[in-house]
Amino acid sequence: MDKFIINGGRKLNGTVTISGAKNATLALIPAALLASGTFRLSNTPDLRDVATMSSLLRSMGMRIDLKDHVLTLDTTGVNKHVAPYEHVKKMRASIYVLGPLVARYGRAKVSLPGGCAWGPRPVNLHIEGIRKLGADVKLERGYIVAKATRLAGAQIHFDVSSVGATGNVLMAAVLAKGTSVIDNAAIEPEIEALSGFLVKMGAKIDGIGTNRLEIEGVDDLHPADIDTIPDRIEAGTFLVAAAITGGSVTLDRIKPEHLSALTAKLLDAGCTINVESSRMKLQAPSAIRPVDVTATIYPGFPTDMQAQWIALMSIAKGTSIVTDTIYLDRFKHVPEMIRLGADIEMKENAAVVRGVAQLTGAKVMSTDLRASASLILAGLVAEGTTEVLRIYHIDRGYEAMETKLQSVGADIQRVAGDEF
Ligand code: EPZ
Repeated sequence: MDKFIINGGRKLNGTVTISGAKNATLALIPAALLASGTFRLSNTPDLRDVATMSSLLRSMGMRIDLKDHVLTLDTTGVNKHVAPYEHVKKMRASIYVLGPLVARYGRAKVSLPGGCAWGPRPVNLHIEGIRKLGADVKLERGYIVAKATRLAGAQIHFDVSSVGATGNVLMAAVLAKGTSVIDNAAIEPEIEALSGFLVKMGAKIDGIGTNRLEIEGVDDLHPADIDTIPDRIEAGTFLVAAAITGGSVTLDRIKPEHLSALTAKLLDAGCTINVESSRMKLQAPSAIRPVDVTATIYPGFPTDMQAQWIALMSIAKGTSIVTDTIYLDRFKHVPEMIRLGADIEMKENAAVVRGVAQLTGAKVMSTDLRASASLILAGLVAEGTTEVLRIYHIDRGYEAMETKLQSVGADIQRVAGDEF
């Protein structure tokens, strides 16, 4: 397993081009199951999770090829409707095939995802939503087994705002007979991107971008091409990298409007930010001010930036409280941050972060994607050398992370090898 070796203390300066959004791509690929033919998804990020989703769909008969960030999908040969445990346990987003398979093929057998690094991740809303659309859904030996001759439009209300369940049920409803309404739908940009893709495929969806989606089911859909939105979490991670190192970094090919909650907090922390169309420049202050954050649903502060924010607050001039209301136990990065010298005390789903004058480099372990990002950010500013182990987690969601960081002056190297 590879590791990163980081020598801290360099201020980052320069320009980074942000890749396409992982969490949009992971919904767009399964959406192609809804129609037969060839699709082209441009600005697709070259990530492990995209490779995992691609290998799952290939096992179903889809032909998939990623070249120069254009993902070409050919769904004419799809002839299997199973998402086996081996795939789903690697990546929870594999469950996104459930809705399209039942809607187009009338059947699906999808493994339950199991837990992840930070605890249980239920899929009850996915299952209840597909059931409401008329599917017969059973749980058999760790699998979701769903059948339907033709799905029928329904009124669906999510008790909890869920990105995945919204995407899954939306992809099922577009081919159902009749009208569906999804209330309390997630409004994350990735769902808006999925909705736009489905409309390009011929779906009839009203209320895109709002938490009430009205879908007029159609009999069939056709292939479409789409340019994938930029990755707002990769962008946010690099903004924090500039802030934590006291540098000045410009991000290119982003959608600033997707980052408003984070940029507001970075301004409160003392950063200067200039925005022009698809570019954003952050100039760090000489000292970071402590800023409380509560991670919540979009357009609130994203839970996927919670770990990175803790890294930044660990060197702020004062104490801040970082709360996660989406995943109450998504704090596996905290013990590793403490090994780097951070002063953090957990109080249920809130981290009390007392800024320290200096972090000190150490060997630390990645536990999940965004935790890894926070450890890298801390390593960039820690005194001395930090080794971040098991960075296959990073490769799931950040394309060429070390190359991009090197391009703006970071002293970071990838060292290949087995368990260290
Ligand atoms: C998506 O996961 C993202 N992944 C996650 O990003 C992100 O953290 C999350 O949304 C929240 O924004 C992808 O898009 C592939 P949810 P998802 O369903 O869809 C509860 C990353 O780092 N819930 O919106 O799985 C759930 O427990 C990843 O890129 C149910 O109770 O998240 C959570 O508390 C990590 N029942 C809340 O909803 C369900 O059936 C939000 O989860 C489904 C979810």
